[in-house]
Amino acid sequence: MIAVLGASGRSGAALCRALAAAGEAYVPVVRDAAKWAALGLGAAPRVADLRDPERLRAALAGARRVVSCAHARWAPAILAAAPAEARLVLMGSTRRFSRWPDAHGDGVRAGEAAFLAGHRPGVMLHPTMIYGAEGEDNVQRLAALLRRLPVAPLPGGGRALVQPIHQEDVTRCLLAALRHPWRRAEAIVIAGPEPLPYRDFLAAVARAAGLRPPPVLAVPGAPLRLLAPLTRLLPGVPRIRADEVRRLLEDKAFDIGPMRRTLGVTPMPLAEGLARTFVAAR
Ligand SMILES: NC(=O)c1ccc[n+]([C@@H]2O[C@H](COP(=O)([O-])OP(=O)(O)OC[C@H]3O[C@@H](n4cnc5c(N)ncnc54)[C@H](OP(=O)(O)O)[C@@H]3O)[C@@H](O)[C@H]2O)c1
Repeated sequence: MIAVLGASGRSGAALCRALAAAGEAYVPVVRDAAKWAALGLGAAPRVADLRDPERLRAALAGARRVVSCAHARWAPAILAAAPAEARLVLMGSTRRFSRWPDAHGDGVRAGEAAFLAGHRPGVMLHPTMIYGAEGEDNVQRLAALLRRLPVAPLPGGGRALVQPIHQEDVTRCLLAALRHPWRRAEAIVIAGPEPLPYRDFLAAVARAAGLRPPPVLAVPGAPLRLLAPLTRLLPGVPRIRADEVRRLLEDKAFDIGPMRRTLGVTPMPLAEGLARTFVAAR
């Protein structure tokens, strides 16, 4: 039996759909049964909050494989509650490699350290930015912003690299990880096929959304970070946080050799993923 934690989230729901399509039995473990029911996926859930060790242990009873699409900071709780013989597949984040400290990245680093020290067979998958899911706010939010902006003010001219991964490829990685005979605890980055400068990513999103790519205006990061919180005051403009602006200054480029070799997943090109994203959104 496969227990899916975070089954009512974006990655969790996509994985559950894929498991059902593959005819694999799974048990969704969710904190909110009504949210799960609204997805219309059918499987009977077990209800447990990750903060409740007893409920969590009961919800994971009998699982031979446990996959978690909740935040990596929950790794210690999952290690403590999962049956001793269960293999673990946990989602992390490439935020763990960021040089800017924040609660998200710190939580992933702590979760990964606990997972690797636990010596339980399995893997923590660290995705880059995920796009293409129902309800995602990465690419869709960018497209909403591009509809409003005549120019794109980008720190450093948008030259830092990004390597986004489509949600379908995340699902394929999770499925491959569930099937892999892990002998020890490992961590693998999962990302799109190749890095590209953020300004090119932005232009690709614009084209896929049927918009003209705006001219890029190179601006220093510091004033843009100060101005970013003002987006919450502008009606119809998606909110941008100061820390998001800061991260636009750091390269997020990764070797996906281990993803290809160990998981056997070759991610789809960005143009294809964006085309699917905007067809699905229409
Ligand atoms: N989206 C991205 O671009 C991205 C990039 C890199 C890494 N990641 C990581 O990948 C993972 C999955 O991403 P996602 O986009 O699918 O996230 P998501 O949609 O926010 O899903 C997170 C899931 O965790 C569940 N959860 C949170 N706190 C919980 C608690 N206390 N008890 C029980 N369940 C709890 C949520 O439950 P509810 O459904 O009840 O809210 C939700 O189902 C996350 O760990 C995220 O940090 C995401």
